[in-house]
Amino acid sequence: MCGIVGYVGKRKAYPVLIKGLHRLEYRGYDSAGVALLSNQHRLNVYKSQGKVSVLEDTAHNQDLSGNIGIAHTRWATHGEPSHRNSHPHTSRSGRLAMVHNGIIENYAELKQLLLDAGYTFKSDTDTEVVVQLIEYLQESLQLSFVDSVQKALQKVVGSYAIAVLDESEPDTLVAARKGSPLVVGVGDDELFLGSDASPIVEYTNRVIYLEDEDMVVLQAGFTTSEPKITLMTIHGEAKEPNIQQVTMNVSELEKGGYDHYMLKEICEQPHSLRCCIESAKQSLTPQTIELLNANRILITACGTSWHAGLVGKYAIEQLARLPVEVEHASEFRYRQPVISKGDIVVAISQSGETADTLAAIELARREGAKVLSICNVVGSSIPRASDAVVYTMVGPEIGVASTKAFTAQVAVLMMMALRLGHARGKLDEPLYTALTTEMDELPSKIESAIRQRESIRRMAQTLSFAQSCIYMGRGYNYPVALEGALKLKEISYIHAEGYPAAEMKHGPIALISQEMPVVTIAPQGSIYDKLVSNVQEVCARHGRVMAIVTEGDTQVSKMADSIITIPKVSECLSPIVTIVPLQLLSYYVACIKGCDVDQPRNLAKSVTVE
Ligand code: AGP
Repeated sequence: MCGIVGYVGKRKAYPVLIKGLHRLEYRGYDSAGVALLSNQHRLNVYKSQGKVSVLEDTAHNQDLSGNIGIAHTRWATHGEPSHRNSHPHTSRSGRLAMVHNGIIENYAELKQLLLDAGYTFKSDTDTEVVVQLIEYLQESLQLSFVDSVQKALQKVVGSYAIAVLDESEPDTLVAARKGSPLVVGVGDDELFLGSDASPIVEYTNRVIYLEDEDMVVLQAGFTTSEPKITLMTIHGEAKEPNIQQVTMNVSELEKGGYDHYMLKEICEQPHSLRCCIESAKQSLTPQTIELLNANRILITACGTSWHAGLVGKYAIEQLARLPVEVEHASEFRYRQPVISKGDIVVAISQSGETADTLAAIELARREGAKVLSICNVVGSSIPRASDAVVYTMVGPEIGVASTKAFTAQVAVLMMMALRLGHARGKLDEPLYTALTTEMDELPSKIESAIRQRESIRRMAQTLSFAQSCIYMGRGYNYPVALEGALKLKEISYIHAEGYPAAEMKHGPIALISQEMPVVTIAPQGSIYDKLVSNVQEVCARHGRVMAIVTEGDTQVSKMADSIITIPKVSECLSPIVTIVPLQLLSYYVACIKGCDVDQPRNLAKSVTVE
């Protein structure tokens, strides 16, 4: 996905745009650019490959005047990361500039129409096709700026969030969305635009979440009154803006003294989990639990959220005795799944903007299933496409590698399983009460895991030399093995695989060597003895074992080369604690390797394209 920022108002636009891009850089950082309508009403466009800081170096001695501008930070889809593919893209005359987040599916057909009309293209992007189309319609049909944008979007198939400037209308910014998010900020004598609220909240907490096919015209009130908002659809129907209060605050967007957002977000999990649990106690109403009390629960998600869903499966089936299937959204949406009206689909997404997950729930609803989403970003697309939502309420997660969102997602799923099991009479009162009480103790258990940072850093020294490694766990901690492996892969670029521990002897144990460490999650539990055998099998082949064990462990800790201990925790709740040392382990390995922890190569925080 990409990040879009826009500004119209009393301030100089450039500083607002650049600061906004830094807030959105987690959405993509292959290239960045700005377009400004200068005080002389000239359209100035500056852009560069690489991060926002490179753009600042590129633009610092240029004409940065003007109170209207748009800006973009890119995660490449069509066209490699390069200067010529970076946004903003301009029209043939140079009069129009546009930024875009999304995918234009019929861009080839539109491009051919323009090539036949004698247009040429500077980039490989679908975005350039749209800005050229706007100018083509303006000139061929003698349309106004706003009407030509409207007409062009009526011809577009695909997803977009766009912002456009026209040098011949120097007080106007036009924006529109379909399938990609866009938020308008309403300040005093100034208007903002953002892919989410993070570039806006330090100026105003009054926002308008644009709906699909909304189009908005932001006009500076330089000569008349304050800036003006005109909201309509791309078909020209007028709409009344729905101004809401956004709850995010600026301090949540800062690193708070930590070296990286990821470390901050790992260490704030005791607090964020408390917020999540308290919020879920309110939002998991009897009506929501009744919604879940279906014939079957279909969980769909991507990446880390899918791993959380897998923990949810284990918990709901064990505690509520209700069948659960967990599917990668990208597979679910295309394999023509059998979905019945008696099914409930649970979509899990931190960002609420993951394209595959959004498409999966749209399919589910078309098939007649109800949809409940578990999401962290209020007002994002996935909750808005659901019948009900439980927000994890852990605050913005900026680090690309998901951490506090995972523990929160698992906590919500665990509370669902407990309440569902209790409602269905499958969970006796003492066990229900004991586990519910223990949920409240989890933040302090996470705190003790975090206090092992120095031991974990030492373990990371060893792991940082590995070319490849295996993570193994059983039961509730098999999904933790998958998640721990993903963390290591995505921020340290070391290949890692998560495995059910018993599966090792069905092939992977052939890989065991001193050069390929095995990280095992081995807390006390009903299958601990089985895990001891799996660790023995690895050690018997001179494998190197790094283990997460319960305080006081006497078996695995004697076989492992290094251990991290966690407090005793009930098996079904253990993933919320066992994942924390693995988050820190991957963090320290990435730091030792000098990797870009918060913005790993090739990744973005949320994948809003399929
Ligand atoms: C996890 O560390 C990654 N950032 C990625 O796998 C992520 O979990 C996945 O893209 C899903 O994102 P979502 O939860 O915002 O839908």
